[in-house]
Amino acid sequence: MLKYQRLNMLVMEMLAWHEMLYYHTVTTAVYAEAVGRTLGMQDKELEWLIQAVFFHDCGKITWPLALVSKTRLSDDDRKLVKVHPITGEYYLREYWPDMPDPVCRVVREHHERPDGSGYPNGLKNREIHPLSVIVAVVEVFTALLEHRTYRDRSFTKAEALAELKRQEFPGEVIRVLAGVGEVVIGKVVGI
Ligand SMILES: [Fe+2]
Ligand SMILES: [Fe+2]
Repeated sequence: MLKYQRLNMLVMEMLAWHEMLYYHTVTTAVYAEAVGRTLGMQDKELEWLIQAVFFHDCGKITWPLALVSKTRLSDDDRKLVKVHPITGEYYLREYWPDMPDPVCRVVREHHERPDGSGYPNGLKNREIHPLSVIVAVVEVFTALLEHRTYRDRSFTKAEALAELKRQEFPGEVIRVLAGVGEVVIGKVVGI
């Protein structure tokens, strides 16, 4: 229990930074667990998936809150946004020194894209851990369903699934998400 005391502190810091980060985290984790179980993941792999998805955005706690309510990002803002996977990895290592390597990789890689257009390192295809690919799909799906200050309304589930297809995420994961019931945790309004 003591081992996870600092990790619990990190969760509290995420909640304290902005409750919407907490809702986004929990909602994404619930969807990811449903996807992992449907894909037949078990034991360690499922545990890593859930742990990683829970902390995927912990690096955001270093952002100034003003960034949350902006409708347009400046170049400097974008630099801050693009560094959060790296900051998240640093934070998690501080709070969880024996973090499993796959968890660390997913936190660092959750915005990478197979065509190399992602960040922070522009990794391609097999350079990206398979769990990172799953978290990327689920994370984008959750984000599309949530409110954002830079758009008039959130996506419906059907629109979100269509957008995932348009962005060429793996069809296998999209099909699983299509069959998962709606997850509503707290006021699902994200950042
Ligand atoms: Fe992120
Ligand atoms: Fe996220």
